Amino acid sequence: MKEVSFSEAMRRKYPEWVVLITTVDENGKPDVMPAGWAMIASHQPPLFAISVGHGRYTHKLIRNQKEFVITFPSPGMEEAIEYTGSCSGRDVDKFKEFGLKALKAKEVKPPLLADCIVNLECKLEGELAAGDHTIFLGRVVAAHVDEDIHARLLNFSGKFAVAVTQ
Ligand SMILES: Cc1cc2nc3c(=O)[nH]c(=O)nc-3n(C[C@H](O)[C@H](O)[C@H](O)COP(=O)(O)O)c2cc1C
Repeated sequence: MKEVSFSEAMRRKYPEWVVLITTVDENGKPDVMPAGWAMIASHQPPLFAISVGHGRYTHKLIRNQKEFVITFPSPGMEEAIEYTGSCSGRDVDKFKEFGLKALKAKEVKPPLLADCIVNLECKLEGELAAGDHTIFLGRVVAAHVDEDIHARLLNFSGKFAVAVTQ
């Protein structure tokens, strides 16, 4: 074993799952960003955690609106992940520019994403300061699946692979 920096060790973390987080501003305009730092945090009650950098527009929108949607992207959404992760909702309307298909959620204002295998509607339950990120804990108030999709994407350091699931 060789001692290295944290970032050097983390280059070996892949594959990593990736989720897309949708949010809205006070006028209902949606934003979306990919996140790899995401996990199931509790089964009962159902809680999902995401770690979001302070500079992300998503960070501001979650703080302000206290709601977000977590989606699991499916094969074919590779370019959507790259695009939504390379620009900010502060500067562009990512839904409009990329032609992402939004669906109305049941309990929250941020939209669901069509073509995703899973959509989780979350209400902000709490947050934890985590250095240059904030860990947002969302209570899942509604969960949806697309029964015709049976695969999701894994991130291999910028390249994507398909993982077959239920
Ligand atoms: C595959 C991938 C995973 C990412 N994971 C995270 C993450 O876990 N947390 C984070 O804060 N940013 C992450 N990012 C960066 C944000 O998605 C990116 O900064 C995005 O443009 C922020 O958009 P916004 O300003 O509209 O919120 C990731 C980007 C990519 C492409």
